[in-house]
Amino acid sequence: MTEFDYAHKNTENGERATKTAPFNKPQIGEEIQVLRQNAFKAEIPVSDDETLCFLQTFLSTIKPQNILELGTAVGVSGAVMLKTCTGAHLTTVERDENFYKAAVENFKSLDLADRVTAILGDAGEVIEGLPENAFDFIFLDSAKVQYIKYLPRLKKLLKSGGVLVADDVLLFGYITGEEEVPKKRKMLVEHIKEYITAVTNDKELYTTVLDAGNGIAISVKK
Ligand SMILES: C[S@@+](CC[C@H](N)C(=O)[O-])C[C@H]1O[C@@H](n2cnc3c(N)ncnc32)[C@H](O)[C@@H]1O
Repeated sequence: MTEFDYAHKNTENGERATKTAPFNKPQIGEEIQVLRQNAFKAEIPVSDDETLCFLQTFLSTIKPQNILELGTAVGVSGAVMLKTCTGAHLTTVERDENFYKAAVENFKSLDLADRVTAILGDAGEVIEGLPENAFDFIFLDSAKVQYIKYLPRLKKLLKSGGVLVADDVLLFGYITGEEEVPKKRKMLVEHIKEYITAVTNDKELYTTVLDAGNGIAISVKK
């Protein structure tokens, strides 16, 4: 059992069988699709089709210039965001050295390297050194258990009007009570619930939680 096994629960190819999954397919080219399928085969965590589809649609509207991603994995969501936002720069953080190296190669082969600052390191440490009020979009997709800890700092990194999107916040129905929480996921579930409570009650944010992919929380800094 790997650290990421829960990210592939009930799936054969990495997609979750949600009600809306059949409709929500991202428009990604052959090269990214191959990277993605290879990542799924190697059990490397990569966003669902639905999440990528959401990112494409949403980013096409808000057109961010300066994007921060926590949890690069091998660069699939980062590449999708950059291909969608043709003028944007991406700063992306990954703590696993092999994933980081693969992502750097993938950004090069996709001709995106000049628009990426890929950082090998722990997201919690890296965000402390990033500039405040600098990012207009943050994609939070690293270890879910840390989301709540990062929230105060991420709010500072966002510009006013900037958007923080946290992925996987409904965790296979564990958060909504649709599925019984396995014992080993109890602490994770508590931390995610804390995150949802914090962002939905924060007077400095507008937040909507969507049941797309594995659950997405969209928070806008007022
Ligand atoms: C769900 S995956 C990211 C998937 C990627 N965003 C995509 O859709 O292509 C989560 C990643 O976060 C990384 N990660 C987990 N905790 C981290 C931390 N504290 N700092 C940096 N990266 C972390 C993991 O190694 C893993 O590659």
